[in-house]
Amino acid sequence: MPKQKPVKLSEVIMTEMVLPNDTNTLHNLMGGKLMHWMDIVAAIAAQKHSNRIVVTASADSISFKHPIALGNVVTLKAKVTRAFNSSIEVFIEVWAEDIPANKKILTHRAFFTFVAVDQNGRPIEVPEAIAETAEEIELYEGALRRRQLRLVLAKRMDPKDAVELKSIFGFEENKA
Ligand SMILES: CC(C)(COP(=O)(O)OP(=O)(O)OC[C@H]1O[C@@H](n2cnc3c(N)ncnc32)[C@H](O)[C@@H]1OP(=O)(O)O)[C@@H](O)C(=O)NCCC(=O)NCCS
Repeated sequence: MPKQKPVKLSEVIMTEMVLPNDTNTLHNLMGGKLMHWMDIVAAIAAQKHSNRIVVTASADSISFKHPIALGNVVTLKAKVTRAFNSSIEVFIEVWAEDIPANKKILTHRAFFTFVAVDQNGRPIEVPEAIAETAEEIELYEGALRRRQLRLVLAKRMDPKDAVELKSIFGFEENKA
């Protein structure tokens, strides 16, 4: 198993079409169905990075800005941003395309975190992620701040230890 891996090797692109069974009563894609596809495409990216079984630990910042209509083609792109000890953050972008109208828009962006586990479900170490392009480096650099925020919100990290968040929330050190 390599100790380091370029994030570009984890990229996954998945294409789906919105069928009647995927829609709500307004004939738009149901949010739960989209999250299911996001979970799958991101899990594949995390597996490609780690060559391990992965489980979803968290899904952040999913907002539904634009409805996706029946018959649209949905493209989901997932790529690892950064890996820590056993956890891997994956960035997902979603586009909806109306092919007859020749229109394609970016509808969603989200970050999912996966944890690589062994056959007994115990967390296991993953390769370090190497960011190369300007976009990959920006996502890599933001990943530590996002990790600390999600761990504080999940009550898995003491806010006092979230050093990356201090500049955002103005925490002061050694203050009770
Ligand atoms: C995710 C899981 C494996 C973590 O196990 P755990 O015993 O709590 O492990 P640890 O406390 O040692 O944490 C392991 C890693 O998980 C990360 N993690 C735990 N909870 C997290 C959360 N809510 N968000 C993001 N990362 C989280 C930790 O930061 C740690 O990362 P690191 O190793 O890179 O530092 C465990 O909680 C689990 O199995 N959850 C259920 C997963 C699941 O069923 N998903 C849906 C189906 S795939």
